[in-house]
Amino acid sequence: MDYPIVFIHGSGDSARIWRLQVEELGKDRQVFAIDLPGHGERPDSMPDTITVLEYGRVAHQIIQNELQLDHPIIAGHSLGGAIALTMALEYGSELGGLILIGTGARLRVLPEVLEATRSTPQRARDQLIEMNVSEAHRATTAPMIKQEQIEPGPTIMHRDLAACNIFDCMVRLSEISLPALIICGADDSATPVKYSQFLHDHLKGSTLRIFPNAAHYVMREQPEMVNQAIKEWLATL
Ligand code: COA
Repeated sequence: MDYPIVFIHGSGDSARIWRLQVEELGKDRQVFAIDLPGHGERPDSMPDTITVLEYGRVAHQIIQNELQLDHPIIAGHSLGGAIALTMALEYGSELGGLILIGTGARLRVLPEVLEATRSTPQRARDQLIEMNVSEAHRATTAPMIKQEQIEPGPTIMHRDLAACNIFDCMVRLSEISLPALIICGADDSATPVKYSQFLHDHLKGSTLRIFPNAAHYVMREQPEMVNQAIKEWLATL
């Protein structure tokens, strides 16, 4: 069955981060990229402090009420991957599979990064985008990401990273029985390869793909490789 795919962005980003995936994968099946509340074009409807579980509930509502999809595959990047894992734990029987990109089952954030997103949000966000793109692509991809994204409100990046910081489903991964594709950039320092390896070791039957010359924004740094990996994995379902 050609399950539809719903892409969920990471902290401070928006649906636009998936432009190259939506363009390519949308040729063969239904593909959606959603904005979380307070991101991209979706107005904020949530308090300043929030958990990944609460984001997961909102994403579930968007999929059920707005998109009305049957057994979507949830594809998430970073915070979006944590949301995907949470949705698998909460609503697993309603989903078709998981694509987990640059993410992990626990996402502690460096205290100085968390503080910077509170005190100097715009600067911190720009710096994080640069840090999270590998050396090989920094000059081209980082400015493109910054330019394409709709700047989130000043409290959003901090809210997102604070939610990541308390997210932990490491001991619950064995409850997930959905097919899963795990993708990581070899140079990712925000969610290192170790996190993806852990997901692979604990999600039964999962597929792990690690790509060179890519860091945390692997789907923008190596879009052809990532899209090809997704197509190959979809063909196995
Ligand atoms: N998958 C597998 N292992 C994980 C993990 C995950 N998702 N998250 C943490 N771990 C491991 C760590 O590697 C560490 O193992 P070790 O003791 O063998 O070194 C252990 O679990 C504890 O790690 P952690 O919970 O992260 O606490 P810490 O005090 O060791 O480190 C940070 C805290 C913030 C320094 C660290 O998490 C870090 O460097 N994070 C990445 C940077 C960042 O801010 N990323 C943003 C994510 S959105």
